[in-house]
Amino acid sequence: MKKLHLITLGLMMFSGLASAAGDAYIGEHVQTNIRSTDSLRNGARTFMNYCMGCHSMEFQRYNRVAEDLGLTEDEMMNGLVLTDAKFADKMTIAMDPQDAEQWFGKTPPDLTVIAKARGLDWLYNFLINYYLDPTRPTGWNNLTFENASMPHVLWEFQGMRKANFNVYEDEDGNEHKEFIDFEVVEAGSMSEQEYKDMVRDLVNFLDYSSEPAQLIRMSYAPWVLLFVALFTFLAYLLKVNYFRDIH
Ligand code: HEC
Repeated sequence: MKKLHLITLGLMMFSGLASAAGDAYIGEHVQTNIRSTDSLRNGARTFMNYCMGCHSMEFQRYNRVAEDLGLTEDEMMNGLVLTDAKFADKMTIAMDPQDAEQWFGKTPPDLTVIAKARGLDWLYNFLINYYLDPTRPTGWNNLTFENASMPHVLWEFQGMRKANFNVYEDEDGNEHKEFIDFEVVEAGSMSEQEYKDMVRDLVNFLDYSSEPAQLIRMSYAPWVLLFVALFTFLAYLLKVNYFRDIH
């Protein structure tokens, strides 16, 4: 039943978002590695510190994540989890969806399967492409997710940037807005590379959470390849044997 929920949710998000994501700005491709436990732990820490204030990950439990990331209960609950949640709890949040709607104009969606809905490149670009925009209620806008109602929650690390646009009208009088570049207004506490690495790990964690079985599948891969190699070798020996007397 739970699986069914997850699939339905996934499909809902996918169909709803596919069109919205159609002409999103994707300036960079992200290279993640789901087998890097360090990267996943790093991403989990960022998620629990900076995202779970507003977003839940309802289809995950703390103990499952700890197990998959090789963390003890103590490392997980005292090192990563900021609330008084229990080890076997689902990763829900205390924020009331109606309050959230009032504060932000939109309810922050559950992020368990967001990587399936949006794709890794979209998530990565969304999180690195915030810029200051005084016309928006939060003071922030985003190149990849225009007019998003989520503020730039990682701004202390990335710093503040303005975006320069080339705005022009075509022959038919339609206005076009072309992104040119960013201009640093205030530097963040991280270098550009450090910030991008942090976001890459966070996206890696969101990828893992959208399908934890990926880890198991990946761990089978070497054995499957070994089996295929052995089998090929046996088939070759058999062929040599069959054709030995045929000239
Ligand atoms: C202060 C509350 C808040 C925090 C903290 C927050 N978000 Fe959000 N987030 C929102 C809101 C509100 C939206 C809805 C935006 C919209 O639809 O315009 C959103 C939307 C999103 C979306 C887009 C979902 C979609 O496809 O429509 C993603 C992805 C996301 N957040 C990721 C994150 C990540 C990753 C973090 C942690 C680094 C984070 N958020 C922290 C409030 C928050």
